[in-house]
Amino acid sequence: MSDLIEAIKQLKKEKNALILAHYYQQGEIQDIADYVGDSLALAQWAAKTEAPIIVMCGVHFMGETAKVLCPDKKVLVPDMAAGCSLADSCPADEFARFVAEHPDHTVISYVNTTAAVKAVTDVVVTSTNARQIVESFPKEEKIIFGPDRNLGSYINAITGREMLLWNGACHVHEQFSVEKIVELKQQYPDAVVLAHPECKSVVLKLADVVGSTAALLKYAVAHPEKRYIVATESGILHEMQKKCPDTTFIPAPPNDSTCGCNECNFMRLNTLQKLYDCLKNETPEITVDPAIAEKAVRPIQRMLEISAKLGL
Ligand code: 13P
Repeated sequence: MSDLIEAIKQLKKEKNALILAHYYQQGEIQDIADYVGDSLALAQWAAKTEAPIIVMCGVHFMGETAKVLCPDKKVLVPDMAAGCSLADSCPADEFARFVAEHPDHTVISYVNTTAAVKAVTDVVVTSTNARQIVESFPKEEKIIFGPDRNLGSYINAITGREMLLWNGACHVHEQFSVEKIVELKQQYPDAVVLAHPECKSVVLKLADVVGSTAALLKYAVAHPEKRYIVATESGILHEMQKKCPDTTFIPAPPNDSTCGCNECNFMRLNTLQKLYDCLKNETPEITVDPAIAEKAVRPIQRMLEISAKLGL
């Protein structure tokens, strides 16, 4: 494996490529990346890099977002089949029809969407900035929020808004077992429950801290003396454990699993071997229809501008 790691590093240098990885990637991919981050950070790094090649170790919509922001760069993904159940829960034609039926509504879309959905969106959000971006609109603003019904309901609850929600969800975050988290809490009464807002509201009710992957990591780093039950994709435990080596992190279990942790099968499609092959062959490459990219770039740029103003 060390030969493969060295070969990736060598190719990366030769080709002046930037490797970005989401926290849900396998640990060995996170370790070799130039930057590891949440969805917002990945978009921010893509937007500012001067590297001619970006390798997005994440899922397809993350590569698309990078391509839309950097149309002149080559954006590669190690495995083109790395999709997203949440993005799939929002077909662009159906969403466009929904938007057309509510012409007086501002459209806020989660970053976990295809470029075609972003093309009919006013502003994109991630879990890091969703609350602040929603609150940047007047209280009476009519808003469509898609596609994650759990994140949308959570934002509605904490802001007192009544946004119209698209009925989509992430198959990983929907799977956490309330019963198993309650059992863990009984076993470890001192444990702090960290949960991603894509989880169902019954899980969020059990949580002490609700936040994006970056926010949950930040909380743990600030309080390493505590013990944690973590209700988000278990890849985040790699960075948590790296930053807090003496802290106990327990992955919250899904309803049915033998290993007790909750992994995204799409995120796990990327491997070191596929990363090597994709750097070597410069394929698979993300492409986005330029007419769609031209429309999709505006709401993404708007998100980046608002986030910069908010210091996110
Ligand atoms: P964040 O990266 O914003 O925490 O969201 C996680 C996610 O949904 C990745 O697909």
